[in-house]
Amino acid sequence: MSLSLAIHEREEKKSKPDYDNLRFGAEFTDHMFMMDYSTEDGWHEPRIIPYQPLTMDPSSLVFHYGQAVFEGLKAYHFQDKLLLFRPEKNFKRLNESNRRMNIPEIDENFMVDALKELVKLEKDWIPTKEGQSLYIRPFIIATEASLSVKPSSRYKLIIILSPVGAYYSNSEQMSPVSIFVEDDYVRSVKGGVGFTKTAGNYAASLKAQKKAEELGYDQVLWLDAIEKKYIEEVGSMNIFFKINGEVITPALNGSILEGITRNSVIELLKSWDIPVTERLISIEEVEAAHENGTLEEVFGTGTAAVISPVGTLKWKGTDLSINNGETGKLSLDLYETIAGIQTGMMEDKMGWTV
Ligand code: COI
Repeated sequence: MSLSLAIHEREEKKSKPDYDNLRFGAEFTDHMFMMDYSTEDGWHEPRIIPYQPLTMDPSSLVFHYGQAVFEGLKAYHFQDKLLLFRPEKNFKRLNESNRRMNIPEIDENFMVDALKELVKLEKDWIPTKEGQSLYIRPFIIATEASLSVKPSSRYKLIIILSPVGAYYSNSEQMSPVSIFVEDDYVRSVKGGVGFTKTAGNYAASLKAQKKAEELGYDQVLWLDAIEKKYIEEVGSMNIFFKINGEVITPALNGSILEGITRNSVIELLKSWDIPVTERLISIEEVEAAHENGTLEEVFGTGTAAVISPVGTLKWKGTDLSINNGETGKLSLDLYETIAGIQTGMMEDKMGWTV
């Protein structure tokens, strides 16, 4: 069945938030996208409607067994252009999450086009100051009313939009964060769902995040679940190490999310002729590099924060200080280039924006 997008505009527009004090994901625009799935009709009735609460049966499967996936990407407004950064990759990854979580696949091309319509309609909401953007949150939830443990026969795909400032509210965008290396709680395991953007991955991370904060650190460094040795992710981001001129990031192994910023960093580094390797990297290797003075930079990558330099790693009672706790040159170059391309301020030689 071919899908046709209906648009129902709201009559009275909401008032805009204070654009000088935007928080992350706290305010939402006038409209949202919604589409339903049922086993009888497949995905149907794509529509843009006024932003509004949902009415759901309390027995909806998502509330009980967590069949839910999501994505995150950003839109920018530069001069007369509205820009999206690699949106096709988000809908491709949404389908990867769907397959693992037993949710019916969506038509990726249709979703990119529908998103363009939604962003066009909401263009006045896109903030334009440095570090600001319109954060886009597509998500799918299981809506069948049932307490049976089974794949739902009904779903909703919704896209909401939020004008956002920098992800880290109390520190500047590029100030290095402190990281607690977690070797008790784990995030995911091979064969599990760590490579997907499913809600439960984030719920399961909260306890360790709270522990890190109580100990005075910003985020958690996740190690592999079996040997508690190999590095996987940092907070909700991918992680990179620059050791002796080479940039290393953990290879995708089924428990690591295939970040779009991660992929963009790898492609940029290759285009700059900087050696970049995807492989296993252990916390001991990082500690040894720190000891012999070859650990040059560490940074996280994600849609929300783009590049997030790491200033300290707490491992086995010792604080390893990276680059004297200062932002490294490579982190800055990567941030300026990716943010420059995303915002339209820099020529997009990679062909990433649409
Ligand atoms: C990102 O880095 O974009 C994330 O996945 C964080 C998001 C869950 C807020």
